[in-house]
Amino acid sequence: MEQHYNYKVVKQFAVATVVWGVVGMLVGVIIAAQLAWPALNLDIPWLTYGRLRPLHTNAVIFAFGICGLFATSYYVVQRTCQVRLFSDKLAAFTFWGWQAVILSAVVTLPMGLTRGKEYAELEWPISILIAIVWISYAIVFFGTIIKRRVKHIYVANWFFAAYIIAVTILHVVNGASMPASLFKSYSVYAGVQDAMIQWWYGHNAVGFILTAGYLGMVYYFIPKQAERPVYSYRLSIVHFWALIFTYMWAGPHHLHYTALPDWTQSIGMVFSLVLLAPSWGGMINGMMTLSGAWHKLRTDPILKFMIVSLSFYGIATFEGPMMSIKTINALSHYTDWTIAHVHGGALGWVGFITMGSIYYLLPRLAGEQKMYSTRLIDLHFWVATIGIVLYIAAMWIAGVMQGLMWRAVNADGTLTYTFAESVKATYPYYVVRFTGGLLYLSGMCVMAYNTWMTLRNRDTAVAVIPSVNPAHA
Ligand code: HEM
Ligand code: HEM
Repeated sequence: MEQHYNYKVVKQFAVATVVWGVVGMLVGVIIAAQLAWPALNLDIPWLTYGRLRPLHTNAVIFAFGICGLFATSYYVVQRTCQVRLFSDKLAAFTFWGWQAVILSAVVTLPMGLTRGKEYAELEWPISILIAIVWISYAIVFFGTIIKRRVKHIYVANWFFAAYIIAVTILHVVNGASMPASLFKSYSVYAGVQDAMIQWWYGHNAVGFILTAGYLGMVYYFIPKQAERPVYSYRLSIVHFWALIFTYMWAGPHHLHYTALPDWTQSIGMVFSLVLLAPSWGGMINGMMTLSGAWHKLRTDPILKFMIVSLSFYGIATFEGPMMSIKTINALSHYTDWTIAHVHGGALGWVGFITMGSIYYLLPRLAGEQKMYSTRLIDLHFWVATIGIVLYIAAMWIAGVMQGLMWRAVNADGTLTYTFAESVKATYPYYVVRFTGGLLYLSGMCVMAYNTWMTLRNRDTAVAVIPSVNPAHA
């Protein structure tokens, strides 16, 4: 009997990516505005910065980011294994289960219910739901790999697989808590061990969600969009193993100059410096895939999203190792430099590769040749790029300025500036960052409109699985 790919769940996740992208970035713009104009919390507890900030990080990473990863990994694993997803029912459960997790976050975080661990804020009942959905995801993904009709496992799937396995381990270990009531729990670890576990988790959330998962996108969608094979298959395997081995040890760079033993901090620093090599291996491999096809960048805005995203990946993974050097971290830590680094990675790398991949996917899921408007994709690209430049340039300058003001001392040993003076000096940069964020959000709204117009009145496309194995999926 003729078999079809399961595009329904891919489409659901693709649309959710766009919707949550708008929501998450809107909350980002609101908190950026609150930093410039604090009165904007309107004295309503639910709208205070401390509650909306985790809502922003959860919405952009777990809603926008992970829905994008669900959509692309489900698409790529089917196409490259040439089989339908292992289980339609379980796949549908991962979609609805994940939306339930997101909605619970939207309700509980503004209420102030939190475990107090960054990127792992959601209280224990939600945390358990995350574990159940995640294990179902693993079953669907690996089940599909097991029943594949192509002997070879394409490298994009290696990256998706590493991300799924690592997140399971990170979430379970860092999530271990003792419930005190339905909405309150305490970590089973104490003191510096708790901090170490938390940043082992936090850093590997960057390494496996915000990096490995998106490298999975790079290895499928860039060759597809450029119509060129991956530059070096060997390099992809070497940098894969080097990356996943090294990331695991770098977490202590988040805890420089704390109660964590000094030697542990130094290990974190050394592994972070080593991390530059496998990170750039991936960036170079992606970029070089365009060899002989550079001219396509002139006319293809989707490819522009993808290649510029790799440039930001290169910037963030150069800057990160530098910031992990203890003497540099002494200046950058606690300042907006970290925020510049985060958003270079988040807006430039994670955002752009996701947007490029989703633009590739949407028309195919609707049985169309291309998106409703290519000019709107180009508009999105330019508005968002200008937004990123404003955002990160403002935060770089503000960050270095803050670090220097805080350490400035007079001849008699007293501090040259009060803390309040540094806050006042940062004000103009917060306004510039807000403007950059607003531009980036507008680009996302343009994408939402383009998505709506592309999918409007279209049923999900039906793609037949080939009966013989062609060389390329
Ligand atoms: C319109 C776009 C965005 C704006 C205006 C924005 C704004 C902000 C602001 C104001 C903060 C708090 C900074 C602080 O505490 O000093 C923040 C934190 C953060 N944002 Fe965004 N953001 C945006 C998009 C994104 C995206 C797309 C991602 C991820 C994919 C992201 C990830 C994060 C993370 C991880 C943090 C926490 C950083 C840390 O604790 O060091 N943001 N964002
Ligand atoms: C070689 C790769 C990288 C290294 C070695 C690295 C290193 C660092 C360092 C040293 C910090 C500052 C820690 C502190 O002072 O508190 C940091 C913060 C951060 N980095 Fe990276 N980074 C890398 C790549 C990336 C990428 C690609 C992203 C993607 C978005 C990213 C996201 C973040 C986030 C979200 C934080 C803030 C964590 C927090 O305090 O909440 N990093 N990174």
